[in-house]
Amino acid sequence: MSGLWGGRFSAANDPLMARFNASLPFDWRLWDADIAGSIAWAAAICRAGLLTAAERDAIVAGLAALREELAADVPGTSERAWHVTATDEDIHSYIERRLTERIGPVAGKLHTGRSRNDQIATDVRLWLKWQIAGRGLTRVDTDKKNEKRKNPRSSASIRGPLDSALAGLIRAAVDRAEAEIDVLMPGYTHVQPAQPVRWSHWLLSHAWAWQRDRERLADLLVRVDVSPLGAGALAGCPFAIDRAALAADLGFATVSQNSLDAVSDRDFVAEFLFWAALTGVHLSRWAEDLIFWSSREFGFVTLADAYSTGSSLMPQKKNPDALELLRGKSGRLVGGLTGLLVMLKGLPSSYDKDLQEDKEPLFDAVDTLALALPVAQGVLETLTIHPDRMAAALGDELLATDLADALVRAGVPFRQAHHLVGQVVRRSEETGCALRALPLADLQAIDPRFTADVAAIWDFERSVEQRAAVGGTARASVAAQIAALRRALGD
Ligand code: ARG
Repeated sequence: MSGLWGGRFSAANDPLMARFNASLPFDWRLWDADIAGSIAWAAAICRAGLLTAAERDAIVAGLAALREELAADVPGTSERAWHVTATDEDIHSYIERRLTERIGPVAGKLHTGRSRNDQIATDVRLWLKWQIAGRGLTRVDTDKKNEKRKNPRSSASIRGPLDSALAGLIRAAVDRAEAEIDVLMPGYTHVQPAQPVRWSHWLLSHAWAWQRDRERLADLLVRVDVSPLGAGALAGCPFAIDRAALAADLGFATVSQNSLDAVSDRDFVAEFLFWAALTGVHLSRWAEDLIFWSSREFGFVTLADAYSTGSSLMPQKKNPDALELLRGKSGRLVGGLTGLLVMLKGLPSSYDKDLQEDKEPLFDAVDTLALALPVAQGVLETLTIHPDRMAAALGDELLATDLADALVRAGVPFRQAHHLVGQVVRRSEETGCALRALPLADLQAIDPRFTADVAAIWDFERSVEQRAAVGGTARASVAAQIAALRRALGD
């Protein structure tokens, strides 16, 4: 029978039910946040006169000792120090049992005024905040009332592991964009060759999406960074708890304003999972380009052996598995978001056990991206480009727009110019003569406003340099993007 709620029960749970109900197999990851929350809570209920200083010190010392013991041996690496028993339902009951074994019945005072409903909401928020912002300024194990409390958001330099991984990937793209700015390639729409672009311009197009992912992560932190502790089971705390002080001890920026909402709200998980799904989609689209371009038919890039695999049957194969897995994992990230939203959709107010289902997709999203982002960075840093193959794919037809633009500069309305160049392209196809090789007389037969100047059009470098407006593919525009992204990276 569970140590936390067995009083009104006369029979134990069926072992199947115990297994079904248990969240410790996955919520053990919250151990550190749970202990941090309990240390802060002990300080808060002591300030409210519910614990003597000696009781508080015993609880805090016991929790700190337990934290040290568990830190040495988290289940992700080994389970030796955890001594999990069959009745440990979740991380809260587990920590409370271990604390009781360590310090005796005084541990039973820790849950005064607190419910697992506000506790779990606090743990998940704190854990997620650490993933997003790092643990930098969180102050959890002191009760120095006079110490000036720090606002964790006062330092813009706080960066968590996910942001660092994104920044690493962006930096890889920017470094390559700078080094390889001379390389031209076809730009595509509908996977059809469209206009020439700089390879760097393509690299940076993805870097901008990843930069938005960084910004989005910082934006959503505001809604993660709220302390629900003190909301109780659903109705609030009957004791004189200073919730603001409690929140500050844990490093939260602010406190929740409605206890029903506090134990019910998983918007912050949904937002984070949307962020993760979109980041996954960005990785997937990037991967898709490179998968195509690493094919023999394109041959624009070769992936390093370090990020490719072979076939067990066909000796010649070198497969872009890293990129395919990046593309594939985006599906699972989207699935995590979808699953959470569907779980939340029909829930009645406040806490329902369904909410326990928020954690596995959350942990999975963090784990997936914690590995996927550095893999993407590795792929990008180690691939080889083949500028000759890219150049060979630059056909004259990619300059058809430039030919129309030449007529526009001579005063021809663009619609008409577009139509006339369409006729030129048809003529080239019919005669099998490359666009640039068509005699001027042929062009002038289509329209006399084609002049000898059009000979200058057939230059890919010139074409990209025409696109010098902000955001274009001209060297100066690409250089400006590099500078802007470096600023955003703080380089
Ligand atoms: N394991 C639970 C969860 O993850 C903790 C909260 C349990 N609350 C309750 N009323 N049973 O949501």
